[in-house]
Amino acid sequence: MSHTPTKICVLISGNGSNLQAIIDEVAAKRLNATITGVISNRPGAYGLERASQAGIESVCLDHTTFEDRDSYDSALKEQIEAFGADCVVLAGFMRILTPEFVNHFSGKLVNIHPSLLPKYKGLNTHQRAIDNGDKEHGVSVHFVTPELDGGPVIIQSRVPVFEDDSASDLAERVQEQERRIYPLVLSWFSAGRLMMRNNKAVLDDQELPESGYASE
Ligand code: GAR
Repeated sequence: MSHTPTKICVLISGNGSNLQAIIDEVAAKRLNATITGVISNRPGAYGLERASQAGIESVCLDHTTFEDRDSYDSALKEQIEAFGADCVVLAGFMRILTPEFVNHFSGKLVNIHPSLLPKYKGLNTHQRAIDNGDKEHGVSVHFVTPELDGGPVIIQSRVPVFEDDSASDLAERVQEQERRIYPLVLSWFSAGRLMMRNNKAVLDDQELPESGYASE
């Protein structure tokens, strides 16, 4: 890993277990990156504590103190630029972003979503999978485009759904996979192997299929 570490800015709203996985991979030198800053839209987010324990600068931009989505997103953009970021990582950031914001960071903005997209965009994905009697569920990492949870998928990981699963059992099983695949995607990005081209995810110059890189 001789090239300059990728500057990553991580956006969170809550627990920050994905943030922790990224922090751990950077610390273990398996991910050639520097986390330049963490931004939360919620003041009490435990992820802010994780950032501080790791000595990473963090800022809370509380969305309730902004007039509208446009003013929030423009403050968010400024803060990300102040931290410096080659890659903006949405890690449980529970806000819809304006098209202006998304287009500004196009190709550098990635998200993790707890479903096998295009299934279950939006909220309550685990309960919806259970209610539909799905035998399998999972998680997707994708590039962010203006369409909510609709950008090209980079990778998915599948988990079984058992008969007596509660939404939280399923969330736990899915989150175990999240901690595995998000750092992997970032390692591809930091090595210059991953990009978005013509609204497709491209790895090692190959367009990935709709469901992304097969990870079984
Ligand atoms: C994760 O399960 C992530 O997939 C989900 O929020 C959780 C955050 O956990 N994201 C979304 O639902 C985005 N629409 P974390 O704060 O412990 O990383």
